[in-house]
Amino acid sequence: MFEQEKARFVLVCQNVDCLARGADKIMQALEERLSGEEGVEVKPYMCFGACQDGPNVVLYPDRSFYSHVQLSDVDDIAAHAKGGPAVARLEEGVDPSLKSLIFELLDAGLV
Ligand code: FES
Repeated sequence: MFEQEKARFVLVCQNVDCLARGADKIMQALEERLSGEEGVEVKPYMCFGACQDGPNVVLYPDRSFYSHVQLSDVDDIAAHAKGGPAVARLEEGVDPSLKSLIFELLDAGLV
């Protein structure tokens, strides 16, 4: 999944709990904002295991794990994906050990 060098991935959980909180609309909005952006790819993800904190969006390889994402956060996430600052207010919701596990899986190329 992460075969492209120097690519930044915006991974949007599309599993049941995140979808129930609007993850489909968040993914669509991110795709619209980042369409044509070189080196940035928006992709669905099966589940990050932080279902109660969704909708969840991960920027990789940045290692940013955004939780409780709302449509109103999409502009800031898109700006980060384009090289802007991380969105600190969205990084506080998820257990650090779970974040580490997810990033280990992503580092290993597991999807
Ligand atoms: S349903 Fe989104 S993290 Fe599990």
